[in-house]
Amino acid sequence: MLAATLRRSSAVLRPAAVRSPLRIQRATLATAAPDTSSRTCGGLSDQDRIFTNLYGKHDFRLAGALKRGDWYKTKEIILKGDTWIIDEMKASGLRGRGGAGFPSGLKWSFMNKPGGPDGRPRYLVVNADEGEPGTCKDREIMRHDPHKLVEGCLLAGRAMNANAAYIYIRGEFYNEASHLQEAINEAYKAGLIGKNACGSGFDFDVYVHRGAGAYICGEETSLIESIEGKAGKPRLKPPFPADVGLFGCPTTVANVETVAVAPTILRRGGSWFAGMGRARNSGTKLFCISGHVNNPCTVEEEMSIPLRDLIEKHCGGIRGGWDNLLGIIPGGSSVPVLPKKMCEEVLMDFDSLRDAQSGLGTAAVIVMDKSTDIVQAISRLSAFYQHESCGQCTPCREGTGWLANMMRRFETGDAKMSEIDMIEELSRQIEGHTICALVRTVT
Ligand SMILES: Cc1cc2nc3c(=O)[nH]c(=O)nc-3n(C[C@H](O)[C@H](O)[C@H](O)COP(=O)(O)O)c2cc1C
Ligand code: SF4
Repeated sequence: MLAATLRRSSAVLRPAAVRSPLRIQRATLATAAPDTSSRTCGGLSDQDRIFTNLYGKHDFRLAGALKRGDWYKTKEIILKGDTWIIDEMKASGLRGRGGAGFPSGLKWSFMNKPGGPDGRPRYLVVNADEGEPGTCKDREIMRHDPHKLVEGCLLAGRAMNANAAYIYIRGEFYNEASHLQEAINEAYKAGLIGKNACGSGFDFDVYVHRGAGAYICGEETSLIESIEGKAGKPRLKPPFPADVGLFGCPTTVANVETVAVAPTILRRGGSWFAGMGRARNSGTKLFCISGHVNNPCTVEEEMSIPLRDLIEKHCGGIRGGWDNLLGIIPGGSSVPVLPKKMCEEVLMDFDSLRDAQSGLGTAAVIVMDKSTDIVQAISRLSAFYQHESCGQCTPCREGTGWLANMMRRFETGDAKMSEIDMIEELSRQIEGHTICALVRTVT
């Protein structure tokens, strides 16, 4: 991210003539399937809203959740079986909400290998670490709508034939962990989970595991290590968690939002979800918008809404007006900054943002107006990644430090012009030579 961001902001640092041709080549790699509809996405109607207590205006407990339609016909859905649930999730087109955007139905299906069970238990692990700077959506679900997540665990667990879920929650989320535990206790008491969950004959347990707040513990294999009581350091893949995961057993790690939307998708049908957003980018999405807007917020909207509409409709516009915009990080601190010109056209979905050489990531939109010192902002982020590197891989351990040092020199005006190209070269040497994707996001 760092090099790409610097490239974007490099107009302030170096003339266009010295920019690498590699960049120009990459910019032409369009990936989005052409959108056949001319409809502008956005303006999600209340009937299509999944998170109806996002702002905590109503009761988060079971009584309130039942009024909002949670736990409705859950038993019937469980009895439809794993294949039905997975097919419906595939039909919905849901892509993981943890950042990478991998198709969820397909990912969950990896747990049910041809040849049947091998005798090992299977686990669902829910990633509630939410350490990505700018991201503040999963905590809202757990604080205000925890039953959506508990019910989602049960149904995702049924799809994968897992009989237990571990929810790994960031240690600082005290209220979120308390509300979640309260919801789990209520669900056990009401017979919704536990032995013979919902009277379906399926047994399912849910455990909350509190982490200690290291960003790297959000990486799925690091998270698994941490639950096992070890230091949170990513594992080499393969083997992938679906083969050897938690306690050596088949495991799927899924984001809170991914799991929490599953019950509504299964009740309303995959085609309902697939009918929103553009092809390959379906459904609704929680967007968290922070920074220099008049009204920072977390809001559920239709996928593929134009970025400009998202900001103007829900955040009261940019502080000082649209012309005061400098740039936007559209998907959490791991994705490159978009300059103002691109913010005018880009859609908030996986493919549009990839084509713009950025990413949807966690859909955490960080807005920077012209008062921002962009070099200082990037320098701050590079210090974050240096601090959060777990240190296992030399290119990451050393490289993030070198990047951060160079950025500090840019900030104080002590850098040489040649260091811009050095940053680019360094980032190429780090990328692809490490165990996990922490550095892919930095570079
Ligand atoms: C450094 C790093 C940090 C991550 N942090 C999170 C996180 O806090 N929450 C999350 O859901 N996924 C995080 N991920 C992605 C997870 O590894 C994993 O892909 C995700 O939880 C899968 O869920 P999904 O399929 O529902 O998207 C992180 C990845 C990396 C490389
Ligand atoms: S890339 Fe960095 S954070 Fe990831 S395993 Fe290697 S040293 Fe650790």
